[in-house]
Amino acid sequence: MRKDVIWSSMAGSVLRMCGAFCIGLLILCNSHGIEAQTLSHPSPALAIGGSWIGSVEGPYGTVEFHYEFKLAKNGTLSGAQQANSGDFPILDGRVIGDAIHFTEILGDFGSTAKTEFNGEIEADQIRLTIGSAGPQAASSKSGAPAFPPLVLHRGEPLPSFRAGPLDYRTLPRPVLPALRNLPWNGLAKTPPMGWNSWNRFATAIDDKTVREIAAAIAANGMKDAGFQYIVIDDGWEWKRDSDGAILPNPKFPDMKALTAYVHSLGLKIGIYSSPGPRTCGGYEGSYGHEEQDARTLADWGFDYLKYDWCSARRIYPRAQMQVVYQKMGEALEATHRPIVFALCQYGLDHVEQWGPSVGANLWRTTEDISDSFDSMLQNGLAESDLASFAGPGHWNDPDMLEIGNSGMSSTEYETHLSLWAMLAAPLLAGNDVRTLSADTRKILLNKEVIAVDQDPLGEQGHRVSRSGKTETWIKPLHGSAYAIALFNWSSTAQPLSIRWSDLQLHPKSIRDLWGHRNLKTHGNELSVQVPAHGVVMLRVKN
Ligand code: GLA
Repeated sequence: MRKDVIWSSMAGSVLRMCGAFCIGLLILCNSHGIEAQTLSHPSPALAIGGSWIGSVEGPYGTVEFHYEFKLAKNGTLSGAQQANSGDFPILDGRVIGDAIHFTEILGDFGSTAKTEFNGEIEADQIRLTIGSAGPQAASSKSGAPAFPPLVLHRGEPLPSFRAGPLDYRTLPRPVLPALRNLPWNGLAKTPPMGWNSWNRFATAIDDKTVREIAAAIAANGMKDAGFQYIVIDDGWEWKRDSDGAILPNPKFPDMKALTAYVHSLGLKIGIYSSPGPRTCGGYEGSYGHEEQDARTLADWGFDYLKYDWCSARRIYPRAQMQVVYQKMGEALEATHRPIVFALCQYGLDHVEQWGPSVGANLWRTTEDISDSFDSMLQNGLAESDLASFAGPGHWNDPDMLEIGNSGMSSTEYETHLSLWAMLAAPLLAGNDVRTLSADTRKILLNKEVIAVDQDPLGEQGHRVSRSGKTETWIKPLHGSAYAIALFNWSSTAQPLSIRWSDLQLHPKSIRDLWGHRNLKTHGNELSVQVPAHGVVMLRVKN
């Protein structure tokens, strides 16, 4: 994956996640700024126009920064920081000698607070201090902790199909509908299953790859196992034509032909947009074109829309989030095409309470997953108290699967699928399914575990007990059956037991869903050894 793409995802996530906190941290730093001086003496050697990339360790890990600078002859600096929530224009920018100064407004809608960037230009690098008056201010008189310096180097420009910088302050606020409850669209009676391009390909996705993935899913057993929706995430968008209709970028030459191809394989196809002017990857969003985009996507033949908050945070106050999503819910309804509506706003503002009212079939409950055990666990467990909000047609979504992306062990990936199944979570594979290793196939296509996820009763499981780093979960299934998962989050194997009387169960049969064998039913207690970071998952017929 290209570094700038990784950056594009991470920086936006970090800004979204930490919001006021990061900015608070930034302004903890001293902020003197460069005194106003004459701008008439920029060093002629300072040809800093163009692309610059750097990274800094923030409170949430490494954040990459990408700048496009333009330097005028009089020393005025303009351009933008290209972030995945849209670009942040450079304000008050100037270069004097080898000193550089600019500000950016990084906060959510309504914020006017400027964050200062000051630094020095050296031959092939720019050394910036965030929120203070240059390198010398790193140990400021106030003793405030300095944010680590950001060193920028010459970098590659971001992909040209991204939309350009915007001045968010000048954008009109679109008319929003009155708040109301939309009826259920009748879709997603069980949690949607399929594949999404983001975890493996990010914005490096194109028509050819989507076709190859769909063909692989139709042929490798995934379709038979229930994987159905092939979802193109961010990176397909380009610009609008003279009528305002969205155009796909040249990597997707014919959307109608693509959807027809996927349909011909007996699969369905999904796509992605944002209620903001820019998607999280910095591409054109649906802001101001909601009805038109819904019509276009329906006309192209799409069956699923993931709608990602992203730059909408810079347009709308948080209090309007529900009605902003309702607007697209209404637009999809008006197309009369069955389109699964997937909200992505990272679980903000108790989306589980209002998701169904805006016509949503699923809603993300967390920030983006990454391919690590800790991230998977954090996303999964964030849903442990949300069981009452899930049911046929409406699902909590802890994000796409990472199985097969190689950041976790096979045991950890088994735990990943088991936890998602216990949560009745959407199962969207996020790996390159054109090449499934034997191990990935064994995990991702475990039909016994998938059946727990897809059980028609549609009840999300919940934790029944916890002891140290081990937990027991139960999920009621149709036909007087239950799924039981014994999880071990610790890094050493643990013995665990269940007393059936504690769960008010009298098992007639017990099936081990990863061992693919029946267990003996006699006695009131079942003891098992659960591997480190592992799970024992059972289906019990009562
Ligand atoms: C956000 C979403 C991700 C993905 C990217 C695309 O980060 O949470 O799932 O859609 O945007 O830019």
